[in-house]
Amino acid sequence: MPAISFQNVSKTYRGGQVKALDGVSFDIAQGEFFGLLGPNGAGKTSLISILAGLAQASGGRVLVQGHDVVSDFAAARRALGIVPQELVFDPFFNVREALRFQGGYFGVHNNEAWIDELLQNLGLADKAEANMRQLSGGMKRRVLVAQALVHRPPVIVLDEPTAGVDVELRQTLWQFIARLNREGHTVLLTTHYLEEAEALCGRIAMLKQGRVVALERTSELLKGRASTMLRFKTDAALPANLAAQARITGRIVQIKAHDAAEVESILTTLRAANCPVEDLEIGRADLEDVFLEIMQEEEQKKGVTA
Ligand SMILES: Nc1ncnc2c1ncn2[C@@H]1O[C@H](COP(=O)(O)OP(=O)(O)OP(=O)(O)O)[C@@H](O)[C@H]1O
Ligand SMILES: [Mg+2]
Repeated sequence: MPAISFQNVSKTYRGGQVKALDGVSFDIAQGEFFGLLGPNGAGKTSLISILAGLAQASGGRVLVQGHDVVSDFAAARRALGIVPQELVFDPFFNVREALRFQGGYFGVHNNEAWIDELLQNLGLADKAEANMRQLSGGMKRRVLVAQALVHRPPVIVLDEPTAGVDVELRQTLWQFIARLNREGHTVLLTTHYLEEAEALCGRIAMLKQGRVVALERTSELLKGRASTMLRFKTDAALPANLAAQARITGRIVQIKAHDAAEVESILTTLRAANCPVEDLEIGRADLEDVFLEIMQEEEQKKGVTA
């Protein structure tokens, strides 16, 4: 049984004018650390809202641990710990009360040891008695993470948990989430920090305009595409065949190469064209290169079909 199953999920807003999700289907297996990536407006939060039962799909269905999020809402919701993208909190509670209350909502009592562990691991121990109103934005986000985990859900969903938080929290947060993942929790993460996704996620889905445009193991995604990037600066015009495949930002040129032979052939072409290069670097393509490449391919496909 998959931890999460999205089955042909669609979502339209404003009476069908905005198509936020367009037939999204994929499963996330038990114990996976899964990344959901996509540009602003791609539909990530819409998909998570449907998963959380906060929004209704216009079509298709979603299962969590085998429970339909509509017809079996309570069981599906109990299996989930969700850290929402928007900061929402109750201003009348202090941190510990907020966590107790959230636990109570799921029928979890006598949970103080776990609450202390959460506070400790999220760097909130000295804020336990602070009122939610007194916390900084980053601290509130830590509390949201703790709230999501208070009932020890098997499936943890994080919608941009590190947006606007400092380096220290990012590291403590990922250490803690990675530990929970090792202990068997399934994790679904959306982020715009691609290096985070690359470091953490075993598998990645990329959404664009409500459709899945890539779904692969992270290692395959990186390997299957350009594996090497050649970066250099030049003031000269590139030979036409290279210009066609290069990403040019001012003086900076980036060209993909699949292997060492291709790197050599690019350098030979540049030399033959008397094109002087400075600050030449050969680097491994990262998830950001792959992401941009896939998004560009999708734009081109759209251009062809439009
Ligand atoms: N309540 C709403 N009413 C109308 N349109 C909406 C609503 N919520 C989202 N949308 C639209 O649906 C599309 C998908 O939005 P969504 O928030 O799911 O994107 P996202 O991938 O989470 O983006 P981001 O990276 O900016 O968080 C966008 O075009 C957005 O404008
Ligand atoms: Mg979002």
